[in-house]
Amino acid sequence: MGMKRIAVIASGRGSNFQAIIDRVCDGTIPAQIACLITDNPSAYAIKRAEKHNIPVSLINFSEYPDREHYNQALEKAMRDCNADLFVLAGYMRLLKSETVRAFSGKMINIHPALLPSFSGLHAQQQALDYGVKIAGCTVHFVDEGMDTGPIIIQYPVVVLNDDTEASLAERIMEFEHLILPQAVKLICEDRLEISGRRVIINESGGE
Ligand code: GAR
Repeated sequence: MGMKRIAVIASGRGSNFQAIIDRVCDGTIPAQIACLITDNPSAYAIKRAEKHNIPVSLINFSEYPDREHYNQALEKAMRDCNADLFVLAGYMRLLKSETVRAFSGKMINIHPALLPSFSGLHAQQQALDYGVKIAGCTVHFVDEGMDTGPIIIQYPVVVLNDDTEASLAERIMEFEHLILPQAVKLICEDRLEISGRRVIINESGGE
């Protein structure tokens, strides 16, 4: 089988996208980045893609009359890039169930909390408000719920007394940049098996 094609879907800064670019460029991830899909014309992720000659598909949310039309365009862009794996890297909208079903088992997401705690937006602030001592990040397969799919990798981060949302987010981010490329690599090497809610990581490549 040839090299896998990865599509990244991002709404903003794209530092997680950059972490994947870096691991593809240094040969750690055996794959090709087929495209960046974004809903936001001012996403810095677009600049990162351009710098590495990665095609950009802009599906500008504000140019569509409603969510239905936006979703159709998004799904078309996803089909058009013909990717083996779709990585949500700071994509800040909920995908429709039909879209999730269409790409089931081929889509992963990075979330800045130890799921199932603190799904949704402002996960780091939610962790501070709750008062947990251990925060962290999670890479998971995307299912039809919000941040509820089978978990691939998690990493814990200790909460400090004087943490703010920004300081905690920054420390968690360091590990997002490690575990997201790790998960992408495992998938590109065919080393993951989904068994119910559990994701089994195999030691060596699939046969
Ligand atoms: C990351 O912290 C990611 O985990 C989070 O948005 C940030 C994007 O940063 N995603 C979510 O909160 C999804 N619910 P980036 O654009 O620099 O990668």
